[in-house]
Amino acid sequence: TQQNLSLIKDSIASVPDYPKAGIMFRDVTTLLANPKAFQATVDAFVAAYKDQGFDKIIGTESRGFIFGAPLALALGIPFIPVRKPGKLPREVISQSYQLEYGEDTLELHTDAVVEGDKVLLVDDLLATGGTIEATAQLVSRLGGQATDAAFVISLPELGGEERVAALGINILKLVEFD
Ligand code: PRP
Ligand code: HPA
Repeated sequence: TQQNLSLIKDSIASVPDYPKAGIMFRDVTTLLANPKAFQATVDAFVAAYKDQGFDKIIGTESRGFIFGAPLALALGIPFIPVRKPGKLPREVISQSYQLEYGEDTLELHTDAVVEGDKVLLVDDLLATGGTIEATAQLVSRLGGQATDAAFVISLPELGGEERVAALGINILKLVEFD
């Protein structure tokens, strides 16, 4: 409901000049500390994705874990973490992606996705879309398909929505900030 979306948006703190001057940082820790807002967030995702045939949910380290895990439990499907390098103990595949300055890498266990899996990607926030693109590439390299991606927050001015749409991935975002 609109009321729930307002509750969610109002629960997110905005921190000026973090991590550097001129950036307005949207902080989900205040949402997590508000049980009504956190519940409304998970409920909105459950309503959108129940009975849609997803085999797995993938959350990207670290804030994607916080929203992906309760959704996976509510839907009764596996939760799969995509992690920063060197954190997963068994055989992995790695995917590098460009940051504004430099490069980053994400990893996925090779047995975590199998041919034909229909996967829902979950993260707290969509900015440039680099994280979600790299995560979708990991899924696709193992023969799965990331058909959808869910975010609590989108920052549309940073271009991630177009980038993700160009990959053929459907987006759900609960709130937007300029
Ligand atoms: C943040 C956020 C998303 C990503 C969005 O994660 O949680 O995962 O950036 O940015 P993008 O769309 O431009 O890729 P961060 O790398 O700060 O890691 P954290 O979740 O561990 O804090
Ligand atoms: N908040 C949290 N994470 C982010 C942001 C933000 O405003 N921008 C890019 N990653």
